[in-house]
Amino acid sequence: MKKSIIVLAALCLTIHARAQQQQKMFAFVDQLLSKMTLEEKLGQLNLPVAGDFVTGSVMSSNVGQQIEQGKVGGLFNIKGVAKIREMQKAAVENSRLHIPLLFGMDVIHGYETTFPIPLGLSSTWDMELIEKSARIAATEASADGIAWTFSPMVDIARDPRWGRISEGSGEDAYLGSQIAKAMVRGFQGKDLRGKAAILACVKHFALYGAAEAGRDYNTVDMSPVRMYNEYLPPYQAAVEAGARSVMASFNEINGMPATANKWLINEVLRRQWKFDGFVVSDYTGISEMIQHGIGNYQQVSAKALDAGVDMDMVAEGFLKTLQKSLAEGKIKQAQIDTACRRILIAKYELGLFDDPYKYCDEQRAATEVFTAQHRKDARYIAAKSMVLLKNDNVLPLKQSGTVAVIGPLADSPENMFGTWSFPATKTNATSVIKGLKETMGDKVNFLYARGANFADSTLARNAMVYGGPSWDTRDDAAMLNEALSVAAKADVIVAALGESSEMSGESASRSDITIPHTQQKLLQALLQTGKPVVLLLFTGRPLALTWEQEHVPAILNAWFPGSEAGYAVADVLFGTVNPGGKLSVTFPKNVGQVPLYYNHKNTGRPLDGKWFAKYRSNYLDVDNDPLYPFGFGLSYTTFSYGGISLSQKQIKTGETLTATVKVTNTGKTAGEETVQLYIRDMVGSITRPVKELKGFKKVSLQPGESKDVRFTISVKDLQFYNSDLKLVAEPGDFKVFIGGNSRDVKEADFTLL
Ligand code: BGC
Repeated sequence: MKKSIIVLAALCLTIHARAQQQQKMFAFVDQLLSKMTLEEKLGQLNLPVAGDFVTGSVMSSNVGQQIEQGKVGGLFNIKGVAKIREMQKAAVENSRLHIPLLFGMDVIHGYETTFPIPLGLSSTWDMELIEKSARIAATEASADGIAWTFSPMVDIARDPRWGRISEGSGEDAYLGSQIAKAMVRGFQGKDLRGKAAILACVKHFALYGAAEAGRDYNTVDMSPVRMYNEYLPPYQAAVEAGARSVMASFNEINGMPATANKWLINEVLRRQWKFDGFVVSDYTGISEMIQHGIGNYQQVSAKALDAGVDMDMVAEGFLKTLQKSLAEGKIKQAQIDTACRRILIAKYELGLFDDPYKYCDEQRAATEVFTAQHRKDARYIAAKSMVLLKNDNVLPLKQSGTVAVIGPLADSPENMFGTWSFPATKTNATSVIKGLKETMGDKVNFLYARGANFADSTLARNAMVYGGPSWDTRDDAAMLNEALSVAAKADVIVAALGESSEMSGESASRSDITIPHTQQKLLQALLQTGKPVVLLLFTGRPLALTWEQEHVPAILNAWFPGSEAGYAVADVLFGTVNPGGKLSVTFPKNVGQVPLYYNHKNTGRPLDGKWFAKYRSNYLDVDNDPLYPFGFGLSYTTFSYGGISLSQKQIKTGETLTATVKVTNTGKTAGEETVQLYIRDMVGSITRPVKELKGFKKVSLQPGESKDVRFTISVKDLQFYNSDLKLVAEPGDFKVFIGGNSRDVKEADFTLL
């Protein structure tokens, strides 16, 4: 009793102290606002690029002068604490009101220490590791001058043609939401005023991943019910986890570009989700609305402000046209004030008014970036992100004999990072061959040959805008002959193949999602040697691997593992780490099945028997099944699942039920399994998916060991947005499924009364 009173009193004091701090902040910001001219206010809304890395086709000019004139609110993609300090100094010492700048950067999957691409990270299904990766990224970025990251990218994506599928957490709203929260926690920490805390920016709001035909920046047209149930939850989760900024997306939604979408930003994000941070446009997102066809430069800028965008990335539409729109009565002064206020609040919350050089600590930059501990963590996380897709007794490799490592990705450090890794020093990465030699070189003899170039000339050229992989000028036959003579000397072949870093990411859509032909030919030739072949796959998207699944004895999907790639690959290939990654996205059999995702609807004519069936929902030339389903991933051991036992067969609102399943390690190696819980609502007021992920748990098991894994199911897990967009749980029958992936599951039934 006494203890609870003390806890309550402490809580009241904290709330009171917080309210006081907030009042102090509002008073400070209001006072500052009252001193600002209109130009200075518009300056705060301006985010030019003065960066070392330009991620769009427009470059800002005269930035130095603009800073001193108070025409810049922040800058992005500048690397290095010395440069950042210099620019901050220009703002703080030479501008009239000394307002500090906000320095942003795309710190997406690490800074110098680089983790797997986000799609790879999501395959760990491990929130602690994901949060840790974001924490380390924030530590390194903040040590080097960065206050704000344009991450997490939480766009649900079901179309592997879209290159940016690599930047997100896959196809599922539940898993995506857990990851979104973990990332925000990792970046922002517990207190934004902390030295190593940086502002998160949830992007791309919204539905960017649903681009038609998987072509980047393309149109999105989607029912609100689908948005609310399947696409919006991760953005909302990130906002609820406290993310203080949001980036509007390039795409249109039902006829209105997201950047001018009042319903989306002001209604959904701000009113329904109570987001009170600031919204930034994407790179020239405002001026691109001229091409979208909704107005001229002045009009689109006014529309963006009116919709709720506070900061203009690169387009300078706010800076150059809002004054005129204000004079003409097209926008209100209060709208400019509100936007400016939100940006000043973010700066205040980060502690920049107390110390504008908070992130400019040269000492930290020298000691906290690319540290041995960070690299050790990155190596482990990379190993945990790898997904074993097939293994006919080839892996783990024997720690003896000769291994031929062949392929354009075998000795390609720059291609170990994947997309959005420009803060990283490319020479810092460990290639596959280097990592293998350093880790196992005293026991195993490693041979190397490139074997082929990445791709034929057109695909290669288009995927080499930033330099791309080094190009071997020898002809194909010479490279192949060399590879075959190296292979002849080996006991086993590791074929390091797949995509180059630039073959996924922004503006890197593909209409053919197979391994490029030059490499396929190499793989076929290697298989013809009759030696065991491991396909060590690098990719930023699900690839169609139907041929490979049939012919190659082992396939390990390494995604793009990051700076420690070679070591992590060695750990997994030789069994130091038993792979346990699970796909967060479906791998189709061919591109024609796309979009293919596990939580689809049933249709009125589902294919419930064998393919092919006339007048059923199926194809003439391929069945409906994925090659690898969502949640799939093998291990060096095997797991078996007992039946599901439910604590009760019926629940009422306010009650919970427990589903328990016994999981046994039936193999000879210790391993970790991700046990997945899915639910199906059998009858709804609107149609419901055939199953939806509602929980997952990790369980580590020694050989022969069994553990009971328990899930608590509450009415909340049964809720969905109905046709009125109300969150409801409808009484009726439900199925619960538990298994090691979305396809191979045990099932049981219960009823919601
Ligand atoms: C991308 C964003 C990124 C921004 C800044 C844009 O092209 O769509 O994801 O944050 O550039 O680099």
